[in-house]
Amino acid sequence: MRKVKVAILISGRGSNMKALVKACEEEDFPAEVVLVLSNKIDAEGLKFAEIKGIKTAFLNHKDFSNTEISKEQARENFDKKVSEEIEKSEAEFICLAGFMRLLSPWFVQKWFDKLINIHPSLLPEFKGADAVGDAIKAGAKISGCTVHFVREEMDSGPIILQEKVEVLPSDTKEILAARILKSEHKIYPQALRIICEKLR
Ligand code: GRF
Repeated sequence: MRKVKVAILISGRGSNMKALVKACEEEDFPAEVVLVLSNKIDAEGLKFAEIKGIKTAFLNHKDFSNTEISKEQARENFDKKVSEEIEKSEAEFICLAGFMRLLSPWFVQKWFDKLINIHPSLLPEFKGADAVGDAIKAGAKISGCTVHFVREEMDSGPIILQEKVEVLPSDTKEILAARILKSEHKIYPQALRIICEKLR
């Protein structure tokens, strides 16, 4: 059976990327990672990908903005370059794994239903950049994580898998984030498997 070629976009630590790469190493896994791309040169995850012999790319979004063009245009120009790199790698599917950039409508349309993300809450609860902190502040008893298809509106889109994680009274943001992260590493590869088994 063929494997679906996947690109992973990161900005930092890349622990979800590592979990996906490890899953893809299993012989019967329906996907292979052909590119890890970061918008931060010092993203820890890039080193791991290099050691694994996976093609890596760095694109600085700051290189795409100037005073002559709007922010939206700059965003789209960056996204077009990202898309080019992905196509060059022959990837046909994209996993966002801590990629800290809002994607342009152009990119989301171009990769419609071929673009998934992981978010540290039970969406639609606690959208946004501080999902774990917001869950604690709201006094949630249960939170968790969600793998979903990406749509133009941030942290929306059809849900593929979710896992609940209990919020304990003693939890700090860091402790809860670490517990949720364990679930993320479990469900992200599971979700990729489900999708790629249908795609191949
Ligand atoms: C994870 O919590 C993920 O849910 C969110 O960003 C974080 C990325 O962590 N989208 P890592 O880079 O995968 O370790």
